[in-house]
Amino acid sequence: MRVVVHGLAKEFMTGQGKVRALAGVDLEIREREFFGIVGPTGCGKTTLLHIIAGLEKPTRGNVEFVGEQRTQSRVSMVFQDPSLMPWRTVERNVPLGPEFRKQPVPVYKRAAQFFLEVVRLLDFGGVHPAELSGGMKQKVAIARALANDPEVILMDEPFANLDAQTRLLLREELLRIWERDKKTVILVTHNIEEAVMLCDRIAVMSAAPGVVKNVIPVEVRRPRSFKSMADPDFIRCMEMIWDLLRYEVDRAMKENHPSRSETPGKEARRKPFFTWWE
Ligand SMILES: Nc1ncnc2c1ncn2[C@@H]1O[C@H](COP(=O)(O)OP(=O)(O)OP(=O)(O)O)[C@@H](O)[C@H]1O
Ligand SMILES: [Mg+2]
Repeated sequence: MRVVVHGLAKEFMTGQGKVRALAGVDLEIREREFFGIVGPTGCGKTTLLHIIAGLEKPTRGNVEFVGEQRTQSRVSMVFQDPSLMPWRTVERNVPLGPEFRKQPVPVYKRAAQFFLEVVRLLDFGGVHPAELSGGMKQKVAIARALANDPEVILMDEPFANLDAQTRLLLREELLRIWERDKKTVILVTHNIEEAVMLCDRIAVMSAAPGVVKNVIPVEVRRPRSFKSMADPDFIRCMEMIWDLLRYEVDRAMKENHPSRSETPGKEARRKPFFTWWE
């Protein structure tokens, strides 16, 4: 399924006034593509995923899903925090989608077994989330997303809370799973290396309010693994993305910390707190 994002803008009304999160995002994510989104903190990446998932309404623009039409849920989301149900065992956490769609018990039990095997956690079906490591919990969240049989999987920094080695392992697991049945995946990450390792193309967003600055194709051979990081194409792609991103990250930091800026942004100039002693 193709995901087409047309001119998405989002403003939040808060106690302090209007917050502009997105300022007109256009994107086209191809069928079965692994698509990455990177951008400075606060540029609206999570907001964009929430709008695509239908959890949030845009102020302007829309999202179109182009492809096969099905009655089943089209989109699954994996969050930074695996948000499993602590009172349910692993095998009861995985098939939430089919269970909520009121599929017969044997069907969702089979789905649980199948996807626990996919993430190599078959032996842990009977335990509760509290007994798992962070990486294992995140694998259960991925199994749950897959068991929902979505056409599109949205991932919001799914490995951000994990240690560096678990991150590497899970990246390879995710690559293996994606190579298996190639769903359309949209991954938000702060980690450029992770984006290049996993994605076909990567959108670089501007500092808030977010727009897409560039979409970079990742020309690193598949299948990829840890070793791909030594590929000159890999390094070139990381450099290209960082060159685009560093300016935006710097801009976002200066907006948030005007005292660090030589030429304060509009926000800073408006704030009397930073000017009263001048
Ligand atoms: N529910 C909300 N109400 C008010 N403002 C919000 C809400 N959700 C997000 N925002 C604001 O919208 C902007 C974008 O937030 P968002 O969480 O989408 O950024 P992000 O790119 O995901 O950041 P990060 O990289 O830190 O996760 C921020 O200024 C944030 O404070
Ligand atoms: Mg976010």
